[in-house]
Parts: sequence; structure tokens; C-alpha cells
Amino acid sequence: MSANDIAMKQAWTQVAAEAARLKGAKLLDLFAADPKRVEALSFAAPHLNADFSKQRIDGAAMNAIGALAGAADFDGWRAKLFGGEIVNTTEGRAAKHWALRITDPPGGDNDVTRVLDRMHAFAHEIAESGDFDALIHLGIGGSDFGPRVVLDALKAHRRPNITVRFAANVDGADVADAIEGLDPRRTLLIVVSKTFTTQETLANAEFVRAWGPARIAAATAAPEKAVAWGVAAEDVFPFWDWVGGRYSLWSSVSLVCEIALTHGVFFRMLEGAEEMDNHFRDTPFTQNLPAISAAVQMWNREALGHGSYALIPYAERLRLLPTWAQQLEMESNGKGVTRDGASLERSSCAVTWGVAGTNAQHSFFQLLHQGVEEVPVEFIVNAGAQEGPPSHRAKVYANALAQARALMVGKTAAQAKAEMIATGMSEAEAVRLAPHRTFTGNRASTLMAIDELSPEALGALLAFYEHRTFTEGVLAGINSFDQWGVELGKEMANALLPALEGGTPAADLDPSTAAWVRQLRT
Ligand code: F6P
Repeated sequence: MSANDIAMKQAWTQVAAEAARLKGAKLLDLFAADPKRVEALSFAAPHLNADFSKQRIDGAAMNAIGALAGAADFDGWRAKLFGGEIVNTTEGRAAKHWALRITDPPGGDNDVTRVLDRMHAFAHEIAESGDFDALIHLGIGGSDFGPRVVLDALKAHRRPNITVRFAANVDGADVADAIEGLDPRRTLLIVVSKTFTTQETLANAEFVRAWGPARIAAATAAPEKAVAWGVAAEDVFPFWDWVGGRYSLWSSVSLVCEIALTHGVFFRMLEGAEEMDNHFRDTPFTQNLPAISAAVQMWNREALGHGSYALIPYAERLRLLPTWAQQLEMESNGKGVTRDGASLERSSCAVTWGVAGTNAQHSFFQLLHQGVEEVPVEFIVNAGAQEGPPSHRAKVYANALAQARALMVGKTAAQAKAEMIATGMSEAEAVRLAPHRTFTGNRASTLMAIDELSPEALGALLAFYEHRTFTEGVLAGINSFDQWGVELGKEMANALLPALEGGTPAADLDPSTAAWVRQLRT
């Protein structure tokens, strides 16, 4: 066993000891024991602050996780990330998405700024020409989610009179919806694919190209493939292999945002992300918001055994955040082996799920409050100006705070019974109903706030999640930047396609798949 393995083992022993101490702890008792608990477990970064005091954690547990981060060489891996070293060791690549957000690079001119300048000029040309009233963005996964989140979140900054449609799914209904009601002669098609080989995107792109859009642009790390497919070279906007797909919204992948948002908004988002980059790069682990948040995620998963968490933005404009974070977190960290290929002893990723509050309350919050398993919740509110009727503002906060408080405080059977009797119910009926109206409470949550829904704050928030994901990967000892797990299904789909298009099914299919091929072939 190497010295490093021994250090990791010792650090885990300490984390496990702290977990054993806190596992059965009552959150309300932790508050009672430490009057400064809220301050001690609240952290701030540019445009974002977070309160972890309702997590089953304390200073000693944080110290143990800090020691684990030391043993996992968090400082070293962070330096490698920002030094542009190869951190994606199975593909031999750096992960320099942060370099897309250096808004004032020393020396000025470089590949990143040149492409950004071309995007600005192109956006200006398209938006100001008067020739276009619709953009169709075709991509999938990391070539799709980011621009969707950004355009939805920053609706207040959209140019009027430009309709944006997205299609990602290879189910033809998606792309049929995308063109519906649009005039191809006034539509720009943007094909976005890092590899320019993705089946779904190319199938959708071929369909829309045949429909006859006025102009076609592409964003890709394989510009020669886009040109070979038929995009004019001057309308191809490159990015680079050091930009992972799920980290690519800062690149030409967001050409649609550059066009559909008013001048300067996309750049302001980059600036906000850069502020978060600086915080993450320069702040020690113990005060570093993405790192602390990663520690809490790891703690809930590995120390306390909660395999999923719910991400609930109490902000309609952030309703797509959980979908984006799902790919970011689970495609990055849903791994089974360490960087060296050894089987992981513990999981490296929770299941991310969630939708916007308050809608979520009327859906699955029943399970969060009374289901047998605890699911930690991450609440996000917008502390700044709100759109729409002013009278809604307090209501959205009241709901977010109440849910976090209800999860923690709960309601005993005695309380439930007393409340029912106070309404005039019989003792027998109150006793019968009390178990159903009891809340165990003591359920953990984090509450975070962005200072306002500005382009800068959105950039900072998305960069926060990227850095948190990276830190969780470091704590688990994995490579967060590859995604081999998506390949097998893609290979098998390609192999099955000929049979489903009427050809002869392969002889070696398992009986279940073979039966379905017979049923579904065209
Ligand atoms: O789902 C696998 C994946 O490779 C993602 O990592 C990526 O974001 C998506 O497919 C799209 O890939 P591309 O941008 O190359 O079309």
C-alpha cells in the first residue's frame, strides 16, 4: 500500500468516525449546542451564498473531510486543472473550460478571444440584418442543455422578435416541433456537436437542412467535419478538445445565446463565471464554496448513505438547472473505477434530480417529508429582483424556507394528535390519524441564494456546479472528464439499426432484444 493509500485510509477512518457520531444526531440539538452554528456553516462566493447549517454536519466533521481533501491532493489537482495539465487521463486531455471565461486575457488575442469576436460579429449580423426571425439550435447533451438553461434563465435579456427552437431527441416529434410554423427563408439553423458524429444531432440536422433554412452555422471541435457536411467555413465556430461537452456552454456551443441575447449579456455571464473561477482557484478548501458544497455532497452520500439528492430551484427562471446539473454531475462522476482503474470502494456520485419549487411541492415532496428514506435537498432562491407580480415575492421565499424548516423540524405524533383534538375531532379518530399526520423531521437540506438573476450571477452559479463536480471527483479519486459509460449503448444502437430498418437481425442477439426487433422493425 502506498503512503498515499495509507493517508486516504486514515482520512476515511476519521470521516467514518465523525459520521458514526453524527448519524443519529438531531439537527435541532446541533443548533442548541452551538449558538453560532448558522454563521459557522454559512459560506459566500461571488454572487452566491449558502447555508449548510441544516446539514447533519459540524466543524469536526468538516475538519475530517478537509483532511480527506488533503490526502486526495485537492490542492494539487486544482492546480493541475488551472495549469492546463492533463486531468482527463483516459483521453489525454486538459479540461480548460475556465479558459473560455478569461475575459481580459494577458496579451489579448488568442484562439478563444478570436472565436468570441467572430461570434459577436456573426450575432450582430444575424440579429441586425432583419433577414431572420428564428433560430433552430440542434445538439444534444452538453451541446444542448447549457444554451437552454441560459436562454430560459435570462429571458429578461432576450432580443425581441427572435424565436428560438431547440431539438435534441432522435424521436422525430422533437425536430418536427422545432420547425413548426417557422418560415425556412427566415430561419438560421445552428448545428452544435463537439464531435460532429452524434447520430441524433446529424439526423435532426439532415432533416432541417432538407427543409431549406436560409443559412446554416455550426459549433464544433471538428470544423472539417462540419465543412464536409456542407456548412460554409466562415459560418463554422470552433471549440477545442480541451472543452468537455458538459462544460462547453461557455464556448461557441452558445452561439444561439450570443444571437438571441442582447449585446454584451453573454460576455457578462462569462465574467460572472470567471469571478467564481477565481474564488475556487484562490480560496483554501475550508472557505471555498464549491469545495465545501462538494464535501457536503460526499458526506451525505458516503458517510450518511443517502444515494440521491433533490435540487430544487425556488426560481422559475432556473427550472432547467436540475436537468443541466444531471448531466454535469452524473456524466462526470458516475464512475466505477479510480483514475488508476482500480474498482471504487465507495460511490463517487449521487443521483441528481429535481424540478422547480413550488411545483415540486405538489409533486414529490410527500416522499421527501414522509417517505422512509431521507433525501437531502438543495434549495436555491433568487434574493434579488423578481419578475412578475410583486406580491409573489414573499410567497416564493415563504415556501422555500417553510419546506427546509418542515423537513428539519417535523411534527410528532403527540403534536399531530393535539392539533386534531383542538379542531374538535374525537380522541379515537385523532389517535387513528396521528401516524399519518406525523413528520419524523430531522431531514437535511442546504439553502443557497444568488444575489440576483443577472447574467453574472447565472455564470457564477453554473461555474459553481462545475467546480463542485470536479471537487467531488477529486475526493473520490476519479477522472471526472471522460464518459466511456455512454459508448456501449451507442455502439449497440448502431448495430441494431440495420435490422430495425428492415435488414436481417444479427444472429447473436439475446432472445428478448431479438423479439423486440421483430415487433418494432419497419
Ligand atoms: O452523451 C454523451 C455525449 O458524448 C455527451 O458527453 C455530449 O455532451 C453529447 O454526447 C453530445 O456530443 P456531441 O457534442 O459530440 O454531439
